[in-house]
Amino acid sequence: MYQSNLGFDAAGLWRKDHDHFLHPYTHFDSFGREGSLVIVEGEGCHITDASGKRYFDGIGGMWCVNVGYGRREIAETMAEQAMRLCYSNTFVDVTNPPAAELAARLAGLAPGSLNHVAFATSGSCAVDTAIRLAHYYQSRRGQGSRKLVISRKNSYHGSTYLGMTVGKRDGDQSQHFKYAENLVHHLSAPYPYRRPEGMTLEAFSDFLVDEFRSKIEELGADNIACFIAEPAQASGGVTMPPPNYLPRLAELCRGNGILFIADEIVTAFGRLGHMFASKDMFGIEPDMILAAKGLTSGYIPLAATIYSDQIHEVISAPDPDAWFTHGFTYSGHPVSCAVALKNIEIIEREDLCANAPAWAATSNTNWRNSPISPLSAMSVAAVS
Ligand SMILES: Cc1ncc(COP(=O)(O)O)c(C=O)c1O
Repeated sequence: MYQSNLGFDAAGLWRKDHDHFLHPYTHFDSFGREGSLVIVEGEGCHITDASGKRYFDGIGGMWCVNVGYGRREIAETMAEQAMRLCYSNTFVDVTNPPAAELAARLAGLAPGSLNHVAFATSGSCAVDTAIRLAHYYQSRRGQGSRKLVISRKNSYHGSTYLGMTVGKRDGDQSQHFKYAENLVHHLSAPYPYRRPEGMTLEAFSDFLVDEFRSKIEELGADNIACFIAEPAQASGGVTMPPPNYLPRLAELCRGNGILFIADEIVTAFGRLGHMFASKDMFGIEPDMILAAKGLTSGYIPLAATIYSDQIHEVISAPDPDAWFTHGFTYSGHPVSCAVALKNIEIIEREDLCANAPAWAATSNTNWRNSPISPLSAMSVAAVS
């Protein structure tokens, strides 16, 4: 157990942060006046600020600390791996044991034929990787005109240039930024609570499917590379789609040569009670699944773009000039991958996937209307 020793200079830290750290999503007006809450410790599902005040962290950091704070065995795994091999270049044809083991582990856990993995260090970069991979795959199979991306309103897919273009929450689109034009087309959000008044859930599902079909006709299937969707929209309000919506969209994708990318950056690794929610909760087998956050429970950055045999067969087909010119200095980082392996071991050993919905059920049996959704339950279930 970590021994707390709260000897922090709270005012000094506040000042340094205020004067020098540009935070993600800074709201300059309030930040200028109030600055930051300085968090100094975490244990289980609680965090503590520099003044010693303790908080219940229901959201698990940023939906990521799935196994809870302060796991000594994860810290020890990090230290051991950092001493053995702190870094390894994985470009072209070099690898390291944790990266190879984790790729195989994810292939075993992911549904269907999702047997191949590209690593990154953030969810945003996993999204970029997926879309670049979709373009590359479509081109390598002789469908180079397929470049367009279909996404949904109310979605969040990260904050790189591409991620911000793909996502679309009202508050995110600032006139002071630039977004790629004519690349991404947004459909209505599958947000049952906001469906037109008097419309049944089934009719709402029909409406969304028809809208998708019309969009394909309007753009031309031959111009569309992929469709990207969070199975449950997370940052857009933690919303569950209407029944059968995802399987019906997956079928339309399959019938039109459009790759289905499931952005499970929030929902994977237990947050909805399954390692991956796509198949186990929503009955779909996407062409790619994206994971980050709960993959390492936030102990260290790591993301994965997990993709199908079908894609791999096409992109790895013999061609002496073909290079997949994409990847990062830290792709397959040995310390991150070692942490992910330990984290998965903990989730399985403690049966946390079963524990999360069980915990949610004890707090409120109707999760569609629950103030503490299954998305929040995971972190609490891990440590209670
Ligand atoms: C669904 C989804 N996709 C992508 C991202 C981006 O991940 P990151 O912040 O690690 O870049 C997020 C972040 O919250 C997310 O919720």
